[in-house]
Amino acid sequence: MTQDEMKRDAAWAALQFISKDSIVGVGTGSTVDHFINALASIKDKVRGAVSSSVQSTVKLQQLGITVLDLNDITELSIYVDGADEINAQKQMIKGGGAALTREKIVAAVAKTFVCIVDSSKQVELLGRFPLPIEVIPMASSYVSRELQKLGARPILRQGVITDNGNLIIDAHNLLISDALVLEQQLNNIVGVVTNGLFARRAADIVLIGSTNGTQVIK
Ligand code: 5RP
Repeated sequence: MTQDEMKRDAAWAALQFISKDSIVGVGTGSTVDHFINALASIKDKVRGAVSSSVQSTVKLQQLGITVLDLNDITELSIYVDGADEINAQKQMIKGGGAALTREKIVAAVAKTFVCIVDSSKQVELLGRFPLPIEVIPMASSYVSRELQKLGARPILRQGVITDNGNLIIDAHNLLISDALVLEQQLNNIVGVVTNGLFARRAADIVLIGSTNGTQVIK
């Protein structure tokens, strides 16, 4: 079984958590692309989707799924998204696809976060995957210097402008023993829009695709 097939299995397994007439929060990435295909198969049963990126919005609309504005709804029962790393506490690193800010906003509104991953994303300690940090362009040098003080090796992601018109710095070499504390610490650096640690708002349910099928962790 390939990694992509494991992603697809986990993504389709998320359908069991979608209630009739619900609005579904939709993340971004290759695993979520499979989920959007799955969602299209039940599109008449849901009211629509709230999207976390232009990329997902385009695919949702191409498949005939109504995309709603987050500001027009007061409640979101479920958010389905992938991750770059996830630990046993269901804390994640996200942002490999540069959509972390909108992902964090939609995740914050949602009652239940369902994380869909293949087994390669499971880690004991977060941080081998460079932590994506969205920054206001004029602050990128300053933020990089502040990250160095925290022991990171910051690398500006070349050729990437986020959907919000900002830049991404990937923070390499961070040993993340306390994700909650580091998430807050990074948010406090002026010029940082969002960092890719999802510790304060961790996942509620994790679906892990592997060669033995998809495991559900609640
Ligand atoms: C995008 C993300 C993605 O969820 C993360 O990068 C995982 O992507 P993929 O499903 O392609 O492995 O956070 O910003």
